[in-house]
Amino acid sequence: MMKILVVFYSRSGKTKKVAGKISELLKCEIEEIIDMKNRKGIPGFLSAGTDANLRKLTAIKEIKNNPSLYDLVIVGTPIWSSNISTPIRTYLSLYKEDFKKVAFFCTRLGSDSEKVFNDMKNLSQKTPLALLELTSREVTRDQYMQKVKEFIKNLKEEIVK
Ligand SMILES: Cc1cc2nc3c(=O)[nH]c(=O)nc-3n(C[C@H](O)[C@H](O)[C@H](O)COP(=O)(O)O)c2cc1C
Repeated sequence: MMKILVVFYSRSGKTKKVAGKISELLKCEIEEIIDMKNRKGIPGFLSAGTDANLRKLTAIKEIKNNPSLYDLVIVGTPIWSSNISTPIRTYLSLYKEDFKKVAFFCTRLGSDSEKVFNDMKNLSQKTPLALLELTSREVTRDQYMQKVKEFIKNLKEEIVK
């Protein structure tokens, strides 16, 4: 049995909703990354945008699941200022040595995800088995199941290879 972990950060719930669905369908563990920096309200929004743009790192709360104990870690992030969110940049930087296989997903208003996925690939030093990009609109309106199922199908096809 393949051990899978879904790891995500979410400021306003969209990425969390998708992460929950993925872990539910895969019946696997889930870990939420908690940013020690307050990202709430307008000041939090502004700091998030600036920190992401400057590719800064942040302090994250101690994780519960050691990623090296999993065959596959699926990492999800919102896009901030056309970049990886700061907490997920931090997570990938800290644990890049510990991943066996990875897959990525992101939520965003409308930005191109290619650059973000490329950055995630470079940071984790791994080629992802599958990718999933969703708009916050698709998530809010519950119009994301088909893409999630396709993502899982792609993942399963890659896993057996
Ligand atoms: C600081 C900040 C910057 C953002 N920058 C972008 C952006 O450059 N492009 C984009 O498409 N969406 C951007 N967004 C929108 C989020 O990516 C989108 O709402 C996402 O679904 C939020 O996920 P969450 O609810 O899990 O936090 C930004 C949001 C925040 C808070």
